[in-house]
Amino acid sequence: MRVDELETPVPVVDIDRLEANISRLQSYLDEHGIANRPHIKTHKIPAIAQMQMDAGAIGITCQKVSEAEVMADAGFNDIFIPYNIVGESKLARLMALAKRVTVSVTADSAYVIRGLSDAAQRAGLTLTVLIECDTGAHRCGVQSPQEAAELARLIEELPNLNFGGLMTYPTSEYTDSFVRETRTLLADDGLQIERVSGGGTPAMWQVHVHHEITEHRAGIYVYGDRLTLRAGSVTLDTCAFKVHTTVVSRPTPERGILDAGSKSLSSDLHGLDGYGYICEYPEAKIYALSEEHGHVDFSACERKPEIGERLTIIPNHCCTVTSMFDEVVGMRGNEVEVIWQVTARGTVR
Ligand SMILES: Cc1ncc(COP(=O)(O)O)c(C=O)c1O
Repeated sequence: MRVDELETPVPVVDIDRLEANISRLQSYLDEHGIANRPHIKTHKIPAIAQMQMDAGAIGITCQKVSEAEVMADAGFNDIFIPYNIVGESKLARLMALAKRVTVSVTADSAYVIRGLSDAAQRAGLTLTVLIECDTGAHRCGVQSPQEAAELARLIEELPNLNFGGLMTYPTSEYTDSFVRETRTLLADDGLQIERVSGGGTPAMWQVHVHHEITEHRAGIYVYGDRLTLRAGSVTLDTCAFKVHTTVVSRPTPERGILDAGSKSLSSDLHGLDGYGYICEYPEAKIYALSEEHGHVDFSACERKPEIGERLTIIPNHCCTVTSMFDEVVGMRGNEVEVIWQVTARGTVR
């Protein structure tokens, strides 16, 4: 079947580009001796995670326990969950997972660390815990090397835990000094920082300048999107993921309406102007979304589309888009080669 015969809106991956993206980042990280631990929350598809492993990844990253459960069921056996896991039943699920596959997690508070230790004791296993450090993103993470060192000592003191190193997201200009200071603080305790896990696609080609980083977690790099285009880490020629849509209305000479709205493109803006890049009409602006309609201003375009014309859109943020579809189409040339189930879709717990 040809891709232009598919009903729209439909997310489509160019497999040649996908393969090239996977191999390009792997080669770069190999060249610099940095382990690759891709974040699979971008695609949530075991077959693509397998392509990443086959290319040389040391394991995968999942954001939630339920996402990791799906990947463990699919046969992946080294999974990092860089997340604070809170609550009895989630901790019990984490321990059940850790009995089946190698799992490491993060924590940024004594509360989370104590919960992990109690659950690991009950389960009779030892869990590897890394400290999440805030090196500029102002999301989770300890705020200082002193706090990181204190929590590392707590992990070592408490039963059934193993101090696994430091984690940050995204890797930033502050990462190396943060790690070095923490290392100095822990030297007297005999605690080594062997693993430093950094992440992010926007700055992925600069990872090698951060000499403290031992492994990298990129997610978006497999697909590319408008956020990473803005950052300059992907290009229009390497973007592998597009939402194919159809113009369903031209109510005015300037306005066009697409069959893809917020339920297909997601409402993520992240400071971008408009809700996606229309490849065939780069000057057009998707200025608003209703659930099933994309509102486009074509006034800046010399040529304007007809009703029925198919358009391809690079969304602002591919991760939120894939998590809204049951299936993603893989194409080679203009032919449908595979239809992947987004197996880990909806795994937010
Ligand atoms: C903890 C963590 N690591 C890695 C990544 C991957 O970064 P990116 O989406 O820029 O590829 C993310 C993305 O949100 C993340 O939250």
